[in-house]
Amino acid sequence: MALHRNVRADRASATVGFRPQFSRDGETAELPRYRLPVGGMDPDTAYQIVHDELMLDGNARLNLATFVTTWMEPQARALIDECSDKNMVDKDEYPQTAELEQRCVAMLADLWHATDAEEATGTSTTGSSEACMLGGLALLHRWRARRTAAGLPADRPNLVMGANVQVCWEKFCRYWDVEARLVSVDASCTHLSPEGAAAHCDERTIGVVAVLGSTFDGTFEPVADIAAALDELQTTTGVDVPLHVDAASGGFVAPFLDPDLVWDFRVERVQSINTSGHKYGLVYPGVGWAVWRSADALPGELVFDVDYLGGSMPTFGLNFSRPGAQIVAQYYNFVRLGADGFTRVQQACRATAKWLAGEVAGLGPFTLVSDGSELPVVAFRVADGEDRFSVYDVSDALRGHGWLVPAYAMPEGLEDVSVLRVVVRNGFSRNLAELLVADLGAVVDELGQRASGRRPEDAKRSAFHH
Ligand SMILES: Cc1ncc(COP(=O)(O)O)c(C=O)c1O
Repeated sequence: MALHRNVRADRASATVGFRPQFSRDGETAELPRYRLPVGGMDPDTAYQIVHDELMLDGNARLNLATFVTTWMEPQARALIDECSDKNMVDKDEYPQTAELEQRCVAMLADLWHATDAEEATGTSTTGSSEACMLGGLALLHRWRARRTAAGLPADRPNLVMGANVQVCWEKFCRYWDVEARLVSVDASCTHLSPEGAAAHCDERTIGVVAVLGSTFDGTFEPVADIAAALDELQTTTGVDVPLHVDAASGGFVAPFLDPDLVWDFRVERVQSINTSGHKYGLVYPGVGWAVWRSADALPGELVFDVDYLGGSMPTFGLNFSRPGAQIVAQYYNFVRLGADGFTRVQQACRATAKWLAGEVAGLGPFTLVSDGSELPVVAFRVADGEDRFSVYDVSDALRGHGWLVPAYAMPEGLEDVSVLRVVVRNGFSRNLAELLVADLGAVVDELGQRASGRRPEDAKRSAFHH
């Protein structure tokens, strides 16, 4: 969460004003902004004030920056509403919600080719960040246990990953005092390479993180090849390094669109996998999943018991209370769509992303960094020799058309390259993609004319007609 500094309450703008017709008898038309009001107000008035303030938020459907779901069916919304009072940790009170959570874990383990014999174990989380923390903690504890059992020092652990990892992994390392060994990327490989991974490991490496769907450009890291490089490392040096797959986005894409891509529990070295239910799992924000290939991969000391139907149920998580509604919504998606439905949704996203990539490339001033053929994500930079504008100019100008398309520098090794990224999600239709391409074309023309000293024609700029 953002850390909010306390704001001085005596500032001139320390009140929230609202329209007089909404205040009832005895209510003032002003509220303190940063202090708890002394008295309350009519619920309709309170609703209107909060509702009006929120009008300044962007339109979620035009937010092409986020991987997180911005549209669900009314039936899913109804279930979320019905379950918004259920606390996931109260397994005893809400055994059926706990049952649905268990079914979701089982379905994901199956989707990711866990074997019955190994008894995969998993949990829901608040999102992939928490799931990654849990995956990292399990690696850390297992490494410490191995080192201690062998009579070896268990200090100065490190975790190896590409410089393109999402910030949650750097957070994990900082919070739990683990060295983050980031492997630089380059233009020929914008994510972790097998050689890079193996070369950075040593006896203090608790694990390697492979990302299925890089946040920066949507590319899949070659999990099976990374595992093979680690097998080779073990053969030559005896250093045995487990793999965690951060499939925050790809965990709900690859199984449906690339069933032959071997990245999951079919790879023996993969100990654990996380995904975000609220990304391509198609649920509103608030749910992630972590699955370990076997109970052995999850150190017992990390598991806490909570009351459950007169007995106890093992739990592993950073939070205590958590909403149950999103878990129910995940289960709804599973039964509503089935494997066929998920395949259709992800296929449509990939087809739109590939179409969009072709159009962007065709505009002229851009070079594709990724073309939507892995995650449905299109990342592109300004082409060599195009010096009339930067990706930041394009991002700013697109905001004027309502689109949120982020521009940012690529990770260490490619930090001189800045890109724009469009995440194609369920609900970003081909129709919307066509509108985006038209606006992108207009923005490029406008920025080009400005750079060449010509003002775009006044007639075209006019936005006010009587
Ligand atoms: C690869 C990867 N890992 C982890 C995360 C964090 O996920 P969440 O937002 O679900 O906490 C993200 C978010 O974009 C991601 O792309």
